[in-house]
Amino acid sequence: MDIVPDRNTPLPQLIVRWAYTGIRLALSPGATIGYFAFFELLILLLRPDIVDKDNRVRIVPTEELPNQFDFIIIGAGTAGAVLANRLTENTNWTVLLLEAGGDERLIYAVPALSYNFVNTDMDWQFKTEPSSNYCRGMINNQCYWTAGKVLGGTSSINTLMYIRGNRRDYNNWRDSGNLGWGYDDVLPYFKKAENVTIPDLRESSYHGTSGPLTVENPRYEHPIRRYLLNGTSEMGYRQVDVNGKTQIGFNRLQTTTRNGLRCSTERAYLRPVAGRKNLYISTNSLVSKILIDKTTKTAYGVEFVRENMKHTVRATKEVILSAGALLSPQLMMLSGIGPKEHLEEVGVKVIHDSPGVGQNLQDHITIGGLTFLIDPPYNASTTTLAEVTDFLVKKEGQLYGIGICDVLGFINTRCDNSSIDFPDLQIVIGSTASNKNSEVVKSVNGLRDDFYAALYADIIDKEAYEAIPALIHPKSRGYIKLRGKNVSQKPIIVPNYFDHPDDLETLVEGVFFALDLSKTSTMKKLNARLNSNTIPECANLNFPSRDYWRCYARFFSISVYHFTSTCKMGPADDKMAVVDSRLRVHGVNRLRVVDASIMPNVPSGNTNAPTIMIAEKAADLIKQDWNSIISVGCKTSNVRTSENISPEL
Ligand SMILES: Cc1cc2nc3c(=O)[nH]c(=O)nc-3n(C[C@H](O)[C@H](O)[C@H](O)COP(=O)(O)OP(=O)(O)OC[C@H]3O[C@@H](n4cnc5c(N)ncnc54)[C@H](O)[C@@H]3O)c2cc1C
Ligand SMILES: *[C@@H]1O[C@H](CO)[C@@H](O)[C@H](O)[C@H]1NC(C)=O
Ligand SMILES: *[C@@H]1O[C@H](CO)[C@@H](O)[C@H](O)[C@H]1NC(C)=O
Ligand SMILES: *[C@@H]1O[C@H](CO)[C@@H](O)[C@H](O)[C@H]1NC(C)=O
Ligand SMILES: *[C@@H]1O[C@H](CO)[C@@H](O)[C@H](O)[C@H]1NC(C)=O
Ligand SMILES: *[C@@H]1O[C@H](CO)[C@@H](O)[C@H](O)[C@H]1NC(C)=O
Ligand SMILES: *[C@@H]1O[C@H](CO)[C@@H](O)[C@H](O)[C@H]1NC(C)=O
Repeated sequence: MDIVPDRNTPLPQLIVRWAYTGIRLALSPGATIGYFAFFELLILLLRPDIVDKDNRVRIVPTEELPNQFDFIIIGAGTAGAVLANRLTENTNWTVLLLEAGGDERLIYAVPALSYNFVNTDMDWQFKTEPSSNYCRGMINNQCYWTAGKVLGGTSSINTLMYIRGNRRDYNNWRDSGNLGWGYDDVLPYFKKAENVTIPDLRESSYHGTSGPLTVENPRYEHPIRRYLLNGTSEMGYRQVDVNGKTQIGFNRLQTTTRNGLRCSTERAYLRPVAGRKNLYISTNSLVSKILIDKTTKTAYGVEFVRENMKHTVRATKEVILSAGALLSPQLMMLSGIGPKEHLEEVGVKVIHDSPGVGQNLQDHITIGGLTFLIDPPYNASTTTLAEVTDFLVKKEGQLYGIGICDVLGFINTRCDNSSIDFPDLQIVIGSTASNKNSEVVKSVNGLRDDFYAALYADIIDKEAYEAIPALIHPKSRGYIKLRGKNVSQKPIIVPNYFDHPDDLETLVEGVFFALDLSKTSTMKKLNARLNSNTIPECANLNFPSRDYWRCYARFFSISVYHFTSTCKMGPADDKMAVVDSRLRVHGVNRLRVVDASIMPNVPSGNTNAPTIMIAEKAADLIKQDWNSIISVGCKTSNVRTSENISPEL
């Protein structure tokens, strides 16, 4: 078929023709990239709302970059984009935002494609060190860890779930010596960031309606959602706003989308201020070092590489590190801040001995492949052609769905006391099951072919749903270390999943929850039944016994990529604390860390919204410390109390 447009061909016919070609490309082996390039071309032609030409950020060419700024932010990810927006509200300040990746591609806007961007150049493509305790179904026993290398960072490639965590998470942060981080302190910042458009929630005192970040329900919802929700109700769970008063219960998902499309922090926070003269955004700029005066221990600039050239820029006020929980500790250590013995072993000159840098690594681990086969009375499957046309022309359909999560909830497996609202598992259930998605599931997770085949070979085309339980309060702790002195050498990552025996026991409870759900009368209407294929490595154990699942979890261990806590916040008398409660690095002046790495512990849920909250709050702390005006809604107030002013600055 000819895809070159002929002037006289009517548009809808062209679309159909092109889409067919797209499908042909998609179906030819290894042609995923070709399909996306093609789909992108169609978006370019038919969806000006996604192209958003007039609002895209301006990337400053190297020759136009000044060599001095008030603030330099390293990393334009979830946190960095928020900070760049808030700090440039003060027109007296100049801000340089340095990002290793490039601008967001058009297809990133499409919710259903999230996982298709893994292993592209916009993913850092980390792998953990091989282990015999977890990720044993993966090539070389390594877990594949993905993180965004693009404007918006991981918020530009994530799964869009909007979850804040539990009141107690933040009260625990506060009680470990971090004044100002209790739930009542951070709630205003969650609200400040948010513009919820879900009608029922607009009146809620827990939600915001005038922030930059749009929060919605997904535009497409799969028919299985009603079954799953009814099933959880049958089990006694209430339908709650998991971001409201209480968290235990189930509901449809809230997403960081706007008009159904991805609302990354790049879209929410950078595009609206793209015209500010005091904001300089430099992409494809890999920071290799924070410059710190050795005698005064004061940060004064950064070194970065762009177009193969090394550049040095100075910060007259502060350097702010927002490179994420895996790379912020890497840059700290490369710049001489970290555990002394480790830095010496790698050959980095020690500027400040900070034993906590890179330690206390936490993540949410799940059990993959809990596939339940069903015989639905409905037919929700569509062709690629229908999906693509629905998306491009009607602005609806499955490409607007979050296939891995049609229903979401939180449960407490240990505690029958319903007055204690502190879950230990997050349960995600979705219509997109691993049996139907082999290319994506295998490449995202690095599953071995034989492992995948043992579980799915004979059920590839069967209708199914998948339950994903995530352990939200892990007791195990991992770490990050330098592999070498070059910033291009990816850090050594050791998550130590299941080191603490409670972690495996709690996670396995999630399997029994999923089994119970499949036995409710609602799910029986679909004839829900667990995939009975077993993995050979655990075949000596009874299926589906607790022992089997203990064994299985060590093979099909899947991260949900909630890496946190590697530069944890805490008081100076805690030797493992890296930053104080104003996010200033202990022992070094004019340097802050603002991203997921400062969380003392990982919260009870996904980490994007909490990271946005952290950056919103950090912006106010910085403004207070430098005597800037802080805007509070439509009012402004000048906060100049002496207790706010940093003695270290
Ligand atoms: C596949 C996936 C799905 C997820 N799904 C969800 C979800 O549905 N909901 C949710 O809440 N959370 C989700 N998360 C987690 C969440 O998105 C992250 O926790 C959050 O985005 C982290 O924000 P951050 O600012 O700490 O880091 P990031 O957003 O990763 O930002 C760090 C930025 O710094 C840049 N950078 C790093 N080093 C350098 C350097 N040396 N020089 C210049 N720039 C540098 C990076 O390129 C990146 O842009 C998901 C994560 C992944 C990977
Ligand atoms: C919040 O979202 C609604 C619906 O999209 C929009 O009309 C409104 O302008 C937004 N509010 C702000 C302050 O951006
Ligand atoms: C779910 O429950 C509601 C209320 O009881 C009922 O009206 C609806 O038919 C149920 N849907 C399914 C799919 O079971
Ligand atoms: C379901 O719909 C798809 C796409 O329209 C079609 O190819 C398939 O044959 C249908 N299946 C059933 C069981 O009707
Ligand atoms: C449940 O927990 C609350 C709060 O800790 C406590 O006051 C109450 O006595 C507990 N109830 C039971 C039945 O244990
Ligand atoms: C660091 O590694 C990169 C990529 O391997 C290489 O291009 C660069 O020259 C190295 N830098 C130094 C200082 O060795
Ligand atoms: C900018 O500087 C001027 C002059 O010093 C001062 O009056 C003003 O308040 C400053 N603006 C902010 C937002 O701090």
